[in-house]
Amino acid sequence: MALLGALVCCLLLAWRGSPGFGLPLAPESSAPAVGQFWHVTDLHLDPTYHITDDHTKVCASSKGVNASNPGPFGDVLCDSPYHLILSAFDFIKNSGQEASFMIWTGDSPPHVPVHELSTDSVINVIANMTTTIQSVFPNLQVFPALGNHDYWPQDQLPVVTSKVYNAVANLWEPWLDEEAIHTLRKGGFYSQKVSPNLNLRIISLNTNLYYGPNIMTLNQTDPANQFEWLEKTLNTSQQNKEKVYIIAHIPVGYVPHSRNITAMRELYNEKLIDIFRRYSNVIAGQFYGHTHRDSIMVLSDKKGGPVNSLFVAPAVTPVKSVAEKLTNNPGVRLFQYDPHDYKLLDMLQYYLNLTDANLKGESDWKLEYMLTQTYDIEDLQPKSLYALAKQFAVLDSEQFIKYYNYFFVSYDSSAICNGECKSYHVCAIMSLDRISYEDCLKQYYIKHYP
Ligand SMILES: *[C@@H]1O[C@H](CO)[C@@H](O)[C@H](O)[C@H]1NC(C)=O
Ligand SMILES: *[C@@H]1O[C@H](CO)[C@@H](O)[C@H](O)[C@H]1NC(C)=O
Ligand SMILES: *[C@@H]1O[C@H](CO)[C@@H](O)[C@H](O)[C@H]1NC(C)=O
Ligand SMILES: *[C@@H]1O[C@H](CO)[C@@H](O)[C@H](O)[C@H]1NC(C)=O
Ligand SMILES: *[C@@H]1O[C@H](CO)[C@@H](O)[C@H](O)[C@H]1NC(C)=O
Ligand SMILES: *[C@@H]1O[C@H](CO)[C@@H](O)[C@H](O)[C@H]1NC(C)=O
Ligand SMILES: [Zn+2]
Ligand SMILES: [Zn+2]
Repeated sequence: MALLGALVCCLLLAWRGSPGFGLPLAPESSAPAVGQFWHVTDLHLDPTYHITDDHTKVCASSKGVNASNPGPFGDVLCDSPYHLILSAFDFIKNSGQEASFMIWTGDSPPHVPVHELSTDSVINVIANMTTTIQSVFPNLQVFPALGNHDYWPQDQLPVVTSKVYNAVANLWEPWLDEEAIHTLRKGGFYSQKVSPNLNLRIISLNTNLYYGPNIMTLNQTDPANQFEWLEKTLNTSQQNKEKVYIIAHIPVGYVPHSRNITAMRELYNEKLIDIFRRYSNVIAGQFYGHTHRDSIMVLSDKKGGPVNSLFVAPAVTPVKSVAEKLTNNPGVRLFQYDPHDYKLLDMLQYYLNLTDANLKGESDWKLEYMLTQTYDIEDLQPKSLYALAKQFAVLDSEQFIKYYNYFFVSYDSSAICNGECKSYHVCAIMSLDRISYEDCLKQYYIKHYP
């Protein structure tokens, strides 16, 4: 399976890179035919994880509940053991894939009660993850974003400088330039060109300022003036003919598993969507984490035409609560883009079958799917993804059955999502603002299930 995956990917790379398909490569050009970057998110290290006979004591993140089937790579009721996180990074390092950078969209500390953590312990976990990444990838450019757990107390990321913003600014100094460090220290966000000779800019937003549980930003119209800064940054990029990848932890849009709930406060969502629409010709991709699940979204303009592609990456941590039936297998992903215009071409989702890894005592990270191939689409452009979402909406769509299995990173292929469940997924993919979401529910929910 791993071998097949590797073979398929290399054949595709060879195909993309080979002349004779109508698009001859400039012979003098040594630039690769595709650019690649990694996306990792929601590592959630639990430093207390250890194998012991008393399963209530395996990890603090199980909160006194018996771990379900703990092994060296973790347990579904626990956050990540260090060993799992290292196996993910070792896989990336030894995958044979050349990447020009990595994005890392936050949430390093474990899910434990607030009083079991502190500002110092949260900083220590982020420092541990940063040092780990820097030692496995000493030459890789990494662009991090802060998550709602990367603060103490969790979710309460402030609109002014803080001990945590200062600490991460110091930790991430090897990756970021002076201006980026300056805004990171002030408000937990930054922008930076991927490299001086590329016309590609990363904008790393602190969307935790817009998260419902964050009481620091209640009633504020523009927390930390991030909206103003974002508009200014996008406007400058437009003038300089740059392309932008937006990265952040909390996604825009609606959560796919329930009805009519935005991932961030609704008003902030509307504001961000408005900005993203106005600058959709500058933004070449958007990348998020936080939900721990694998999902896509397509932003449309006010007339309904698809203008942006958005990707929510699944977590490395497999953790779930006792009440939940399903969770995700650990995942990491690789994006491919056109190095001339930064258009997204493809995405390769890799995963670890946690049950299998624990059984065998070794980690065998594999290709789960390649986006264009599994759905038979051309590329990752908004039009292609929009057409795919239309296919999902069809009754008994095989494409959607696949999508729902990948949503949980192949944790349980027998899980079923029909009727209401499916309409929420489809509408979350296609509608990111209030008006279009309500229209979508009418169209797909009311039509199929009156
Ligand atoms: C954990 O499992 C043990 C052994 O099966 C059982 O005696 C104990 O009651 C369980 N503890 C909790 C909190 O469920
Ligand atoms: C990170 O934490 C793990 C688990 O507590 C520990 O084994 C490892 O040595 C730490 N690494 C660094 C670089 O701090
Ligand atoms: C926010 O606004 C509500 C209603 O306008 C008010 O009740 C509340 O006290 C305000 N909260 C803060 C933190 O200003
Ligand atoms: C960018 O800024 C200029 C100057 O302030 C303004 O005229 C223009 O409308 C802005 N672009 C967009 C897309 O809002
Ligand atoms: C969606 O939620 C908003 C409040 O957040 C509410 O005003 C609206 O009526 C809801 N719409 C539907 C279709 O449930
Ligand atoms: C994961 O591994 C288990 C145990 O080997 C196996 O039963 C299951 O089918 C595997 N899942 C996938 C998606 O390969
Ligand atoms: Zn998380
Ligand atoms: Zn989160």
